[in-house]
Amino acid sequence: MRPIDYDTEQHEHYARGRVLTQQQLQVWISAFAAVLPDRRPLTGMDIGSGTGRFTPALASAFGPVVGVEPSDRMREVAQAHSPHPGVRYLPGSAEDIPVPSGSADYALLGWSWHHVRDKPRAVPELARVLRTGGRLLLRTNFSDHHPRPWWLEYFPRGYEADASIFQPLHEVIETFTSAGWRVADFRTVTEPSAGTRGDMLERLRLRTLSFFAQLTPAELEAGFRRLEQAVAVDPDGPAPVFAEPLLTLELR
Ligand SMILES: C[S@@+](CC[C@H](N)C(=O)[O-])C[C@H]1O[C@@H](n2cnc3c(N)ncnc32)[C@H](O)[C@@H]1O
Repeated sequence: MRPIDYDTEQHEHYARGRVLTQQQLQVWISAFAAVLPDRRPLTGMDIGSGTGRFTPALASAFGPVVGVEPSDRMREVAQAHSPHPGVRYLPGSAEDIPVPSGSADYALLGWSWHHVRDKPRAVPELARVLRTGGRLLLRTNFSDHHPRPWWLEYFPRGYEADASIFQPLHEVIETFTSAGWRVADFRTVTEPSAGTRGDMLERLRLRTLSFFAQLTPAELEAGFRRLEQAVAVDPDGPAPVFAEPLLTLELR
């Protein structure tokens, strides 16, 4: 995948381009609750917290959260627009997490695992910060378990380009199980519709998805032209939903 530098791209429009409705956010929180222990509070980490799309909701639902984010610009947006008394945003990365060992009950890697460049370094670092029995929630796609969002088909090489960003599921599982983790759960989560097809087109135009960085300018132009034509037929129809994988690992 072409790496994304969030300090120079996406940070300005990310919160708007990837906005979630309260209903969508609640569906994710319920999915996370289903794979976390019942006791409260839980101490959480949001690794690759970005603009804080999930961090305050995690704190409200489960207990105090540290949001760890390498991009200064993304973190600034989070601090300004997603504050919460139970949240601290810190600079860091999955490879270098600025908290003491054994300090968290769970870590969410939400839409961020595919951005982690040094995965062999991240795996023991994630194990270090979790308590024994701690859970790692990997919300990412896999090249062989891909949600195929409806708009992808309008872009030349759309599916191939997007799938190429992600590892196959067995490879991710092997990375963790060979380091002493076990698979606790694997499921898909379907968000309620993101609004109308027209709303979704406006958000996609902000290009706050790594997918767009994988295409050539000609592919982007052709794709948006075809998508606009398709949306124009029924702009007020609900944006179709799709099922996204959630892999939960447990630290033995
Ligand atoms: C697609 S955004 C997801 C942000 C947030 N979790 C969300 O769902 O809105 C990916 C984030 O991962 C961050 N990131 C990049 N490399 C990372 C790394 N090595 N460790 C942790 N996060 C990383 C990026 O800076 C970016 O904020």
